[in-house]
Amino acid sequence: RLGKPLVVAIDGPSGSGKSSISREAARRLHAAYLDTGAMYRAVTLYCMEAGIDLEDSVAVEAATRNADIELSTSPDAEWVRVSGRDVTDAIREPSVSSSVSAVATTLGARAELVRRQQQMIADSGLRIVAEGRDITTVVAPHAEVRILLTASEEARLRRRGVQLGGTQSAAQLKEQVITRDAKDSTVVNFQQAADGVVTIDSSDLDFEETVQAVLKVVYATTH
Ligand code: DC
Repeated sequence: RLGKPLVVAIDGPSGSGKSSISREAARRLHAAYLDTGAMYRAVTLYCMEAGIDLEDSVAVEAATRNADIELSTSPDAEWVRVSGRDVTDAIREPSVSSSVSAVATTLGARAELVRRQQQMIADSGLRIVAEGRDITTVVAPHAEVRILLTASEEARLRRRGVQLGGTQSAAQLKEQVITRDAKDSTVVNFQQAADGVVTIDSSDLDFEETVQAVLKVVYATTH
């Protein structure tokens, strides 16, 4: 197994369970884990704290290039730092969630983050599970394994609600899941599987069943 590249690219909409499933798959594969959404969130927080107008694409692109972002690629340690400061919890705040699409739809910011993500995948020794919205298509189109993890709108709203502690109203949840995905979809297609990408619909699967479905695709491709 050692020395053989195993890049597992997983895309999907919010609430599909992508992050927790990818993290667990990485553990079981003894692979690194890359949460690319955390990088978009970290840049968003960086811009907000620096007083940068998120509608100003030139400024957002420049800020993305300047931003000092570090994140864990261990599935067992979740941390994100901006300018050396821990922002693991801060990037999950609703204020960041509701602004992050502005960064995600700035093409110059995407180009810079894609470049960094490709570097991190290379630095992992090519044994990594990387998840986001454009991993199967842009960041790692030549990955050994490419999966689109989907779920019905109902299942995604329910999961995001549980994840946020059940404190959000139905309208707030819709805003965070459906509206954000609609905005992000204008620049990246994560609703349909690209050629060669395997779709896993997790609507009727529990956590373990979904992890198994992912591992099955991995073993089918690598054995
Ligand atoms: O998965 P998440 O909710 O943490 O993602 C945060 C935001 O970043 C979301 O609005 C989509 C965007 N994103 C993206 O455009 N491309 C990626 N590869 C990952 C996330």
